[in-house]
Amino acid sequence: MFEKYKKVYKADYEKWYKENEAYRQRVAADQDRLKFHLMPKTGWLNDPNGLCQFNGTYHIYYQYTPFEPTGELKTWGHYTTKDFIHYEDFGPVVFPDEDIDAHGVYSGSAFIEDDTIHYFYTGNLKYFDRDDYDYINSGRGSNTITFTSKDGYEFTKKELLMTTDDYPADMSNHVRDPKIFKKNEKYYMVLGARDVEGVGMILLYESTDLKNWTYKNRITTPQKFGYMWECPDLFEMDGQLYIICCPQGVETQGIDYENVHQVTAMKLDYDFDTDEYEITDIKLFDRGFDFYAPQSFEDESGRRILIGWMGIPDADYTNPTEEAGWQHALTIPRELSVRDGKLIQEPIEELKQLRSEDKAVCTFCYGQTIIMQNAIYEAIVDFKRCREMVMTLREGITLSYKDNILTLNLGVYGSGRSTRKVRLEKLEHLQIFADTSSLEIFVNHGEEVFTTRIYNHYGRLLINGECSGIMTVYPLKSFEIE
Ligand code: FRU
Repeated sequence: MFEKYKKVYKADYEKWYKENEAYRQRVAADQDRLKFHLMPKTGWLNDPNGLCQFNGTYHIYYQYTPFEPTGELKTWGHYTTKDFIHYEDFGPVVFPDEDIDAHGVYSGSAFIEDDTIHYFYTGNLKYFDRDDYDYINSGRGSNTITFTSKDGYEFTKKELLMTTDDYPADMSNHVRDPKIFKKNEKYYMVLGARDVEGVGMILLYESTDLKNWTYKNRITTPQKFGYMWECPDLFEMDGQLYIICCPQGVETQGIDYENVHQVTAMKLDYDFDTDEYEITDIKLFDRGFDFYAPQSFEDESGRRILIGWMGIPDADYTNPTEEAGWQHALTIPRELSVRDGKLIQEPIEELKQLRSEDKAVCTFCYGQTIIMQNAIYEAIVDFKRCREMVMTLREGITLSYKDNILTLNLGVYGSGRSTRKVRLEKLEHLQIFADTSSLEIFVNHGEEVFTTRIYNHYGRLLINGECSGIMTVYPLKSFEIE
């Protein structure tokens, strides 16, 4: 096995891969392996990175530790697809093999310009041997690095753009996760950051050539909102700028921010001439137990697609798949749009190809409807009215609605995790994707989403209560991965 903080070369991985067929077989046999989600073949996966579509092919890179299920030594793994149903797996493709990224090829993004994919990421360094080592201020170095590609497979040499000393002097050593945004012929880079006082923020840089970056501003809320903002994303839709990022250390407020870390969406009004700005409409972006570090990109047809990590850092429960030698997955891709001034997330159209022919349709009216079937399904519930209801999604796992609160309850299957909730004016529609060990629940056509892992395979689907409507259930087919 590899040491946690040490350079790893492609040749090391290839040797290790040859020697580990038995490990791959053990993981493949695990009953929790997902059917229509991207997962690590062995070991650990976290954030999606470098998402883009280039000459028709979608590239999905991700934080990947093939060697062990607990993570640490980070490479970029690589999947491609043309239709989000058939995938090709290229394994790890960017390695921590240089002095500038020796202890981790951390998260980053892709930006397409001049028929070239420009990648930006954080090269992580850990200074455990320093006398003044401390986790916040001197323990690590975070380099901003770029490389390019003409096809998404062959990469140019890594080039250092900024190093720890180049960030503003009052930053701690936690600065990372570059993402690029273009406006009025200028390029902007956002970086997640924590200052020495423990305030989370975004650093904004500006460039005219994607090579030379000048510090422009810091963006944060007037009141401290968490100690570190990881994985910032900045984009414009319908003339409005949005930030999606992961503020860490936000305190629970009633039924909001109940996870240890979470994802937040905000509206940003920014004057790029004066650098004056205002953040409004701060909102929890996903209501489930397992959602973090999402990244969005605009595809060649102009859709903004978002994929997240179906997991959370520093989670306080044990993921049962760790014993089987792997952990975590990416979410299904979601298309973003704006409806009535709200950011909406809906499953991408392509996923309809996963539906099998033998759908079940049933009308329910103030009674009980039971559909017993395959545990891997997409269920669409169109409510005519709903005052109260309880839906069983899998044996012992419920989604209930009462007094305008929609509650997901993992019951005895939550490994100690119990409920997550959202307040709704009305419950009108649900679209639920149940994979072997995950649930993604889209509420009222994507106004809210709950993403969560579950570890019970018995597929009982039941709806009961003061409600009526139509439920359609499609058993779903698997992805094909080469
Ligand atoms: C978010 C994150 C990023 C970092 C990466 C390391 O999950 O902590 O901030 O770049 O994961 O794997």
